[in-house]
Amino acid sequence: MKVNNTNFNKENVGETVTLNGWVSKKRDLGGLVFIDLRDRSGIIQLVINPESPAYENALKLKNEFVVKVVGEVALRQNSNDNLKTGEIEVIVNDIEILNESKELPFDLNNTTALEDTRLKYRYLDLRRDELKNKIVMKHKVMQAAREYLNNNEFLEIETPILCKSTPEGARDYLVPSRVNKGSFYALPQSPQLFKQLLMMSGFEKYYQVARCFRDEDLRADRQPEFTQIDLEMSFVNEEDVMNLTEGLLTHIFKKAKNMDIKTPFMRMTYKDAMDLYGSDKPDTRFDMTINDITDGFKNTDFTVFKNVIDSNGIINCLVVKNAVDSYSRKNIDALTEFVKTYKANALAFLKYNGEFTGSIAKFVDAETSDYLKEKLNLEDNDLILIIAGERKMVKTSLGALRLKLGKDLDLIDKDKFNFLWVTDFPMFEYSEEEGRYISCHHPFTHPADVDNLDDKENALARAYDIVLNGYEVGGGSIRIHDPKVQEKVLEALEFTKEDAYEKFGFLLDALTFGAPPHGGLALGLERLTMILSGTDNIRDVIAFPKTTSASCLMTEAPNEVSTKQLDELHIKLK
Ligand code: AMO
Repeated sequence: MKVNNTNFNKENVGETVTLNGWVSKKRDLGGLVFIDLRDRSGIIQLVINPESPAYENALKLKNEFVVKVVGEVALRQNSNDNLKTGEIEVIVNDIEILNESKELPFDLNNTTALEDTRLKYRYLDLRRDELKNKIVMKHKVMQAAREYLNNNEFLEIETPILCKSTPEGARDYLVPSRVNKGSFYALPQSPQLFKQLLMMSGFEKYYQVARCFRDEDLRADRQPEFTQIDLEMSFVNEEDVMNLTEGLLTHIFKKAKNMDIKTPFMRMTYKDAMDLYGSDKPDTRFDMTINDITDGFKNTDFTVFKNVIDSNGIINCLVVKNAVDSYSRKNIDALTEFVKTYKANALAFLKYNGEFTGSIAKFVDAETSDYLKEKLNLEDNDLILIIAGERKMVKTSLGALRLKLGKDLDLIDKDKFNFLWVTDFPMFEYSEEEGRYISCHHPFTHPADVDNLDDKENALARAYDIVLNGYEVGGGSIRIHDPKVQEKVLEALEFTKEDAYEKFGFLLDALTFGAPPHGGLALGLERLTMILSGTDNIRDVIAFPKTTSASCLMTEAPNEVSTKQLDELHIKLK
């Protein structure tokens, strides 16, 4: 079997070796031919002299030809510190051309090709180190996770891909059943119910590197199919799951990146995260938190703010340090356009230099001025960006603005890995679309207070998310194991008994046969790998990803199918 070409070093000088790989680069230096031979492990330099029996074949070689060569390892005159094999070269005396290659649609050594072209020829793009290394990183993360969980008595158990459609939040991918006319399977959004059922089967500690499918709007960190490191445990509480997860992530970081991370991780309640960062996944690598300055305007003459306060809204701001000179009116107009995409009506601003100037300066009377100076610890050159209105809008738009400013002003330390547990999530959230309260996590999450489910705005759940550098890399909860509690929660979610039984009667039944207390969590494998390999594009860590319109440019999936196939499935297209 082939060994890595880059296993060879100066200790092998004088040895005859056989190498396989691709021609990455060829240089013809008037007689001598130099080849950079590439395999998965990297590059090794080949030299072919005009006297070599391999010379004729060497002249035929072009980029990306596949070859087998035999030669002798020699010391290189000018070593190349950038290469693992930089001290040696192989003097070749035999070349077998195993396959030729057409000219590639883009240059692997210097690609400026558009992502669409690279996705169409994904198998070629994957030959580039930059992508290959991320796929290798993902492998390391997966293996480290398996290693840690195996060592902690977890069992890896597979669960079905063809499932029943159950309400879990996102839209299901459906698969028509040929045998059962008019019926559909759903692809799993996660193995949630199955892993709970495995606890009821007595497996106690389960994990799976699980493929999940969600038909939702795609973003830079969201794909329609992705992978979870999914786990579940019996007889545990929040602390147990969090400790286990911290151990797991510590092991993954050590194995995949040789990095020691500090535990225990920081914790923050959902409420604090929203209040201070305007996000349930705060990036804590830089400060600049959101300030509530509503009280400073309680006697204001400014009708816009007055109306906001009268209708129970809030006035919040960010303070940008040393920014007065760098933010012209035009810059602030651009920020205003930005926050408008988050439904803010306007972005008011104040500049502080001993006194206030700016769009609402004339409404800053002596009382408000004192309030702001003290509350915001103002210093000269501070820029204050203010949004007023309904609470959620104010928080989320300032949260997004905070992130934008963090990037624009280069406030984020890229070498930091800031883990954060976000806890005490709400049990319910109001869905405008459905006109009712829905689960914030999923309907099987244990409420913090079983007797306080009527106050839907304030009821909390025993749910937790793990956040890393502003990404939600995982989430989980303690589940309901008492059928009476499950019934109460479903009632609060306005499921009728028939509806609930029709949708997940199997789980409700299972709860009545001695279900153990249990809980768990799932890590997003791609998000974790993205952060570990320093990319903000989820496609980079998936060998064959989909575009944001959920299609594969290489295979051209999804595609139309034949009438015969549709007939077999009893499907007629509209
Ligand atoms: P949740 O829906 O929070 O929880 O998913 C867990 C983690 O999976 C990742 N993730 C995604 N990654 C890429 N593309 C997507 N479309 C996508 N959606 C989610 C995120 C997320 O934190 N069953 C529960 C877990 C549990 O309660 O144990 C669940 O699926 O990193």
